[in-house]
Amino acid sequence: MMIRRETAGDVAAIRTVVGAAFARQVEPDRLPAEVILVDELRAGAAWIPALSLVATNAADDIVGHVLCTRATVGAAPVLALAPLGVRPDHQRRGVGHALMHAVLGAADALDEPLVGLLGDPVYYSRFGFRPADEGGGVIAPQPAWGAHFQVRTLTAGGPSPRGRFSYPEAFDRL
Ligand SMILES: CC(C)(COP(=O)(O)OP(=O)(O)OC[C@H]1O[C@@H](n2cnc3c(N)ncnc32)[C@H](O)[C@@H]1OP(=O)(O)O)[C@@H](O)C(=O)NCCC(=O)NCCS
Repeated sequence: MMIRRETAGDVAAIRTVVGAAFARQVEPDRLPAEVILVDELRAGAAWIPALSLVATNAADDIVGHVLCTRATVGAAPVLALAPLGVRPDHQRRGVGHALMHAVLGAADALDEPLVGLLGDPVYYSRFGFRPADEGGGVIAPQPAWGAHFQVRTLTAGGPSPRGRFSYPEAFDRL
């Protein structure tokens, strides 16, 4: 497996992988909302080219994708991590782990201070994410998300951002 940045020729394959990863969560023949989300984010101001990563297999097929885009905590720029998707026939082989470690390392290298996401705490706690409602000063966009809204602080200097987390506008249509 290899992890690398998305290139211009990868767009269709990423749509296929994201669509397959999230297909179980919608009715058959309907395009998962995450496919549209990635398209809209790529076309918008929140897009950060260095933080759209793909995983490829030995045949050089794209089998996983992860994305961080520009979000805010209060007025401070931070990152939103979503979506993370792995092709169903490649799940539970470490692709998700590799993508998570790669994108967090890349974000840290870019001096980003913090990453927020909505997801299962059982899965994301192993990457250092903690529920925002346990303290730390970040307020979830929606209180009802409870422990599923999680944050991971990175090593950038300065005080960690505090305030309400806001996703890029494209997430409002999810
Ligand atoms: C969730 C997902 C990204 C994980 O990627 P992956 O490559 O399958 O995961 P890895 O092989 O790196 O890690 C596997 C481990 O993660 C955990 N795990 C995987 N999927 C999980 C899930 N949905 N919930 C909780 N834990 C999960 C398990 O502990 C698993 O270990 P096990 O096989 O020993 O039980 C992938 O299953 C996927 O694309 N799912 C559909 C889309 C989705 O739900 N994305 C996340 C949105 S928050």
